[in-house]
Amino acid sequence: MLNLVTRTWRDMILANSPSAADRALRMGVASWLTIALVGQWIFACYIFIVYAIPVAGGDFALTRLSHPITGYVESDTMGNVLYFSHVIPAAILSMAGVLQIIPALRQQYPVLHRWSGRLFLSLGLCGAIGGLYLTWGRDSRLSDFGAIGITLNGLLIPIAVYLAWHYARLRRFAVHRRWAIQAFLLVNGVWTFRLYLMGWYIINQGPNGNTKQLDGPADIVLSFACYLLPMAVSGLVFWAEHKKHTILTWGVSGIMMLGSIITLFGVIAATFAMWMPPIQAVLAA
Ligand code: HEM
Repeated sequence: MLNLVTRTWRDMILANSPSAADRALRMGVASWLTIALVGQWIFACYIFIVYAIPVAGGDFALTRLSHPITGYVESDTMGNVLYFSHVIPAAILSMAGVLQIIPALRQQYPVLHRWSGRLFLSLGLCGAIGGLYLTWGRDSRLSDFGAIGITLNGLLIPIAVYLAWHYARLRRFAVHRRWAIQAFLLVNGVWTFRLYLMGWYIINQGPNGNTKQLDGPADIVLSFACYLLPMAVSGLVFWAEHKKHTILTWGVSGIMMLGSIITLFGVIAATFAMWMPPIQAVLAA
């Protein structure tokens, strides 16, 4: 894995003797990808320990240590099946997603890229449909207003998944790449939301514009920003790659570097404030 990350850095930054501005942009993207890889795998470990292992062992009640909205309910078999089949595959999504974007892996193992891509898009689509059902069918929401951001996220995922798949089948790989990255950012909206929310809490030393129902102004902004902001930044990266204008490329590199720092801060905040406590509680139980 270390070898792969090193190759990614070398290929992305030095390939085709780019200008200093191009190198800075590629370095910004590679930094973000490296931080996202680590952060997503920590999230995957959390899901594995807090949900997958207890469910595999039949210890369903243990999963309540993550303080879910509805979570496991003893008498609700159907609801529990849908709940666990929404949450547990997210570990695979988090492990597989970022690997799809790493150029070295894509070029060296194209068959793996195709199959894990199909798996990612299928699970992402099921995650969105299942999540919409949990929110509006099982009523697993803290407030109607606070659920609008994630609902739009869930509605956009099938569109991006369809377009990523469609252009791959047409072998229009440049357009496929764009939609696949948007699908990746949308599917990971739930991960990014946790990074932003915990980062926000740490910066403000507690809630600031947040409520317990997640419908305060800060909650609402973050619930949309968690996918719209990364999508907008990725759009800027595509634009800079296309325009090849030095000042624009430097500007987008700066935004990418800032994005990497925010993501790193969010990963640290979510790991310690959100994921570690239930991991420790499950391991101690
Ligand atoms: C495909 C992308 C998605 C992934 C990877 C995903 C992943 C997850 C994970 C890991 C959890 C457990 C959270 C934790 O323990 O902190 C969760 C819970 C939940 N998700 Fe999703 N989710 C996705 C999309 C959605 C969407 C689009 C919605 C709603 C429209 C949604 C609604 C929910 C709800 C309501 C819960 C909480 C259920 C409860 O606590 O009872 N998810 N999701």
